[in-house]
Amino acid sequence: MATAISNDRLLRVLRGEPVDCTPIWVMRQAGRYLPEYRATRNQAGDFLTLCKTPELACEVTLQPLRRYALDAAILFSDILTIPDAMGLGLSLEEGLGPRFARPLRSRADIDALPVPDPGDELRYVTDAVSLIKRELKGQVPLIGFAGSPWTLATYMVEGQSSREFTRIKGLIYNDPAVAHTLLDKVARATSAYLRAQIEAGVDLVMLFDTWGGALSHRAYHEFSLAYMRAILAELPAGVPTVVFTKGGGPWLESIAASGCSAVGLDWTVDIGEVRKRLGDGITLQGNLDPAVMLTKPSVVAEEARRIVDAMGAGGRHIFNLGHGITPEVPPEHVSVLVDTVHEHSRRYHCA
Ligand code: CP3
Repeated sequence: MATAISNDRLLRVLRGEPVDCTPIWVMRQAGRYLPEYRATRNQAGDFLTLCKTPELACEVTLQPLRRYALDAAILFSDILTIPDAMGLGLSLEEGLGPRFARPLRSRADIDALPVPDPGDELRYVTDAVSLIKRELKGQVPLIGFAGSPWTLATYMVEGQSSREFTRIKGLIYNDPAVAHTLLDKVARATSAYLRAQIEAGVDLVMLFDTWGGALSHRAYHEFSLAYMRAILAELPAGVPTVVFTKGGGPWLESIAASGCSAVGLDWTVDIGEVRKRLGDGITLQGNLDPAVMLTKPSVVAEEARRIVDAMGAGGRHIFNLGHGITPEVPPEHVSVLVDTVHEHSRRYHCA
């Protein structure tokens, strides 16, 4: 039997049920801005060892919950675990960002790519999920996640973070059939991976489409959204899902119609306008500019209240940043953010 969750605000909002105040979690809430995270990462030796050691991944997942009244935990891992399990040889060096030793350079590379068995190569992730669920003791829900096939493909083809996406865009325009073969394999690997996370105990899942916003209108629908939709269709009914395309402002209606329970927003849109566009049948997540977290407590509180006010009464909102928190953020600013959102949003909820 699954343990009942004592703080289930986030799940209630996803189901459209009343809450006492707006739930909040923070993208990359376990990360380098926390001294205890840096200590555990040093103990692990490097980032990938931290991800691959369930006890340490569990420890860093729980660290932000010890400091802040957050309404969810998010599995500590990375979206690049799938390409790593496909044999591309991931490394992450401080300051350099992620790199693959064996990026995909030809049709033959793509044809030879295996679809990993999540019970085998990615066992460390499901082991971490089981451990985290046990240690959470039903305090808050646990979020599982994966990258979108498009976003993973950008790293797999470029070999590293990219600004221009020359290689992967060359592939979708020159050889769309080959691009589709790649995206289809990654989507199959991702849906198996998310199902394994769900079986191990995560309460909801999120797809991170960090680079969907780099695509044209047509290409976004064909090469990114279509594969996220296919993944969502293969997940068990009743498990809430969040789709986040950074830069996806123009396509929020299509995202909302993809079968997800919630739409992630970056900071470029007005959340009140988005609520009008999409209606109250879907949950919104976001949308504070992460740069606000570097300012000062009074500004963090003011900007948080501005978003809560823009959302208004009775809305289905999970507060978050519009992208990940950065390493230079003073940890006290996160307390200010979480407490302000909880306190200021009470006036807009009646449960
Ligand atoms: O939100 C959380 O707390 C869960 C953990 C999480 C990480 N990465 C940990 C991490 C999640 C959800 C991710 C997702 C991820 N990883 C995305 C999608 C979301 C986004 O940020 O756009 C992407 C594109 C990646 C790929 C990736 N991993 C990059 C570009 C980097 C390097 C960036 C950097 O800050 O150096 C990583 C490494 C990474 N993933 C870190 C963390 C905490 C920093 C590694 C370290 O400790 O040195």
